[in-house]
Amino acid sequence: VDFHVSLAGRGDLSTRIYRQLHEAIVEGRLAAGERLPPTRELATSLSVSRNTVAAAYERLTAEGFLVGRVGAGTFVCANPPARPPRPGEQADEISVRRPWRSIAADPPPLAPVSFDFQVGVPDAHLFPMAAWRRLVARELRDVGVRASAYVDPAGHDGLREAIARHIGLSRSVRAGAGDVIVTHGAQQALDLVGRVLLEPGACVAVEEPGYPPARELFASLGAKVTGVPVDGEGIVVAAIPRAATLVYVTPSHQFPLGTAMSLDRRTALLAWAHRHGAVLIEDDYDSEFRFADRPLEPLHSLDRGRRVVYVGSFAKTMLPMLRLGFLVVPPSLRAPVRAAKRLTDRQGEVSTQGAMAAFLTEGLFARHLRRSTRGYAARHERIAEILRRDFAGRLAVVPSIAGLHLAAFLRTPADVAAIVRRAAAAGVRVENLANYYAEGSGEPGLALGYGGIELDRIAPGLARLATCWPET
Ligand SMILES: Cc1ncc(COP(=O)(O)O)c(C=O)c1O
Repeated sequence: VDFHVSLAGRGDLSTRIYRQLHEAIVEGRLAAGERLPPTRELATSLSVSRNTVAAAYERLTAEGFLVGRVGAGTFVCANPPARPPRPGEQADEISVRRPWRSIAADPPPLAPVSFDFQVGVPDAHLFPMAAWRRLVARELRDVGVRASAYVDPAGHDGLREAIARHIGLSRSVRAGAGDVIVTHGAQQALDLVGRVLLEPGACVAVEEPGYPPARELFASLGAKVTGVPVDGEGIVVAAIPRAATLVYVTPSHQFPLGTAMSLDRRTALLAWAHRHGAVLIEDDYDSEFRFADRPLEPLHSLDRGRRVVYVGSFAKTMLPMLRLGFLVVPPSLRAPVRAAKRLTDRQGEVSTQGAMAAFLTEGLFARHLRRSTRGYAARHERIAEILRRDFAGRLAVVPSIAGLHLAAFLRTPADVAAIVRRAAAAGVRVENLANYYAEGSGEPGLALGYGGIELDRIAPGLARLATCWPET
């Protein structure tokens, strides 16, 4: 790259050049091994004599920052000497809005383990990568000049049509392409809705236990987030604060307990929302993986989309890295949510969206879902069966018929955190249900995902988990 050197400052010209190169190296802007411009070239561009530049290079070479290789040029050393920060050089502490003071940038990376029952990840091995690669390549090849410019903030037209058709058929969600807004995953959908609906200090009700990124997001927008208990039928409607203007729920597969919200509870929740003028967000994040029964009607269909925002994600059905999701909003929210999308992100990444449209319309999505649902169903059944048989006195499996993880409550008191710690030390990752409670730790239990563990690894993994229980 063209390295910018300014001749401003104190000292002779050579010292000024020296100082800037020195700073760039110790700060890492000029990386180890990087080639410096030839002295003649830099001298010409700065209108100084070649000797002036050469003197700066020689000094840096003598101090161990640069190395010259005959015939090849001058390079930054592999390990240039480190310089401790000078007093007063530390970055200023800038005050950020209160919610951001306690929200982690990123959870610490997970260490690899032998038996990984991590919650919330699909199995990337099941993903038809070759077909996806072909569609992305085709999309990039065929993308026209028009499509490479800014387009509708709601996203790729073809994808919105394909999503509307997909959820219309598979989830009986009545929506046209105009009601669909493509997002970077469910998380952006929640952000857009929160932005347009929440006044500072507004009350948002979320499930307890629940999905931490949703809770944190609403809090980051300045809302007062209240956890509402969940029982075997779903969120306890009577416990939702009257002040709540937004209620976030996961009716198909409660996160993290895995239960489906009963029809009675759905009806009661909708009646509550109408009575209080609140909006419901229905996060249908992994309902496509269904192992039994006919699915219950989404809140969105029961309500005909009047007070319900329907949120979908391709993070589990495709891959989390693609950052593809969508939302279907009631008519009065269409314009403000589109505007929020335009102002925060424009239209997203249209070539990936185009490939996703083709993946849906060419039947590849349906085929991938059928195949992976079979795979996940077998894993779900295997885990449930082993827990019921070999952990009968210890764990009660929470019934669930969909998704990528299941939960189990402890039958007899034990220190769940200690079990999870011992399991980790033994190479087994399971999750403590307590992590999904904002207040208190709820009923003690474990969550076990099966996106990251192959079928034949489940039995040995659970056998090892059994050894992590305290002696009774
Ligand atoms: C409850 C819930 N909603 C949504 C998602 C997906 O979010 P995103 O599409 O932003 O990756 C997940 C993923 O774990 C989830 O557990």
